[in-house]
Amino acid sequence: MTGARITGWGTALPDKVLSNVDLESMMDTSDEWIRERTGISERRIGGLTSTLAIEAGQQAIERAGVDPASVDLLILATSSADQIMPATGPTVQNELGLNCGAFDLNAACSGFVYGLINGFGMAAIGYERVLVIGSDILTSYLDFDDRGTAILFGDGAGAVMLEPAETTTLLGSDLGSDGSTRHLLYIDHGGHLKMKGKEVFRHAVRAMVDSCQKSLDQAGLHPDDIAVIVPHQANIRILDSACAKLGIPIEKAAKVLDRTGNTSAGSVPLALADALAKDWIKPGDNVLFTGFGAGMTWGSAIIRWDA
Ligand code: COA
Repeated sequence: MTGARITGWGTALPDKVLSNVDLESMMDTSDEWIRERTGISERRIGGLTSTLAIEAGQQAIERAGVDPASVDLLILATSSADQIMPATGPTVQNELGLNCGAFDLNAACSGFVYGLINGFGMAAIGYERVLVIGSDILTSYLDFDDRGTAILFGDGAGAVMLEPAETTTLLGSDLGSDGSTRHLLYIDHGGHLKMKGKEVFRHAVRAMVDSCQKSLDQAGLHPDDIAVIVPHQANIRILDSACAKLGIPIEKAAKVLDRTGNTSAGSVPLALADALAKDWIKPGDNVLFTGFGAGMTWGSAIIRWDA
């Protein structure tokens, strides 16, 4: 079995900013309400899942310093593929000049954590360079007459490159799903995003806390051993509550939510890149990734940083 580590990362956000103040003129809401109840001030909107994924993937390839032709696999986490068929992964593969298999993985907002763990699994059986991208444009599915959902989401993407390591840096992981709660958050073909916000909130906190605890147990670590937690960026109150229950100070949580809103599969790698840009993560640090989303799905992974 071959170990893997993250050697490169990248991000992409559309240029167009949609602020809370902009939303005030579109629906009955206020900047103050949105900031207090969600922690979001503005989000970026526009682009395609493929174009954002290509930009983020390109950066990850360049940062890792690898030849695109040497990449062995592309995993694209998304729930807003450019088309129903084909998957968007092959479009991204082609534009990046990769010569490998490519597929879409749909676990909604947990998609990047699912992709990351799958990437480590593929690396373990010999895929040497695995590019994992999370990219979504959920704003194109929003009903801007529904203030319960339209204020929350933004568009964006993030990517990481996995390459061989002497021992794996994935210390613990957990994935979960519960399809009996699929009615809480969904998009029908041709429809808008629908959500029961309060119930999603409750499930999200419980699922992330339980999952993180399982990953910590598997890794033989205590919450104090976590240097940085990189959670899915959905609502600052969800992050506050999950961190408090886990016993991890909120100051250790990577956060981009105020500027991006919930970018679905893009959110965890966007938050990771922000924490790295701020020099929060040092070699040897234990980094806890966690996400939850429609399905419901959830997951967590602990990586010892070795970039
Ligand atoms: N602006 C102003 N007022 C709003 C509003 C908005 N955008 N949205 C709701 N309200 C009002 C409600 O109508 C309600 O008014 P009332 O008391 O007069 O009936 C009041 O604010 C409280 O609404 P409620 O739905 O109880 O708010 P909340 O505190 O639960 O916040 C969410 C709503 C959606 C922000 C919150 O439930 C949430 O973030 N849930 C999780 C969603 C999520 O993370 N989804 C993605 C998962 S990947």
